[in-house]
Amino acid sequence: MTQAMYPGTFDPITNGHYDLVRRAAVIFDKVVVAIAANPGKTPLFTLEQRVDLAARVLADLPNVTVKGYSGLTVEFARQNDLSVVVRGLRAISDFEFEFQLANMSRHIARDVETVFLTPQEQFTFISSTLVREIAVLGGNVSEFVHPIVEAELRKHRRV
Ligand SMILES: Nc1ncnc2c1ncn2[C@@H]1O[C@H](COP(=O)(O)OP(=O)(O)OP(=O)(O)O)[C@@H](O)[C@H]1O
Ligand SMILES: [Mg+2]
Repeated sequence: MTQAMYPGTFDPITNGHYDLVRRAAVIFDKVVVAIAANPGKTPLFTLEQRVDLAARVLADLPNVTVKGYSGLTVEFARQNDLSVVVRGLRAISDFEFEFQLANMSRHIARDVETVFLTPQEQFTFISSTLVREIAVLGGNVSEFVHPIVEAELRKHRRV
């Protein structure tokens, strides 16, 4: 049985993230969406809120669970018996950082493998950062996030 983790900040979960999880859930027996506390990024949503939103959005995928974590991603993988780390590539711009991260992870934990998935084309330009910025400024993000997430984002509107 191959269990994978999909780590990220998920601030908040987008349709791009969903597309990736759905693909991973077909390939692996179990997928843990692992939400990093990531205080350095000063997230808009608390860790609890991010976990709760992701869990609700991903509820229709039976072999997917959502967990929050702090600390090293590869440590979380080891502790939870997850042998694969799934990451997403939207464009070449993601590649450099993701390549560096994957190599560093391998250096720290040789037994954990990183695999990359790409989303369907219409999701390649979606990032949580852009979604947050648009929502905070009163823009419409209904194409990019689940209605549950859209409703939560509306509470952060500044205009
Ligand atoms: N639309 C998307 N399609 C495919 N992969 C994605 C998409 N958005 C994020 N990812 C991938 O998901 C993983 C976790 O991403 P993360 O939580 O940083 O989301 P993000 O949208 O990049 O948010 P932020 O803008 O806050 O960095 C990363 O590997 C990232 O490349
Ligand atoms: Mg990112």
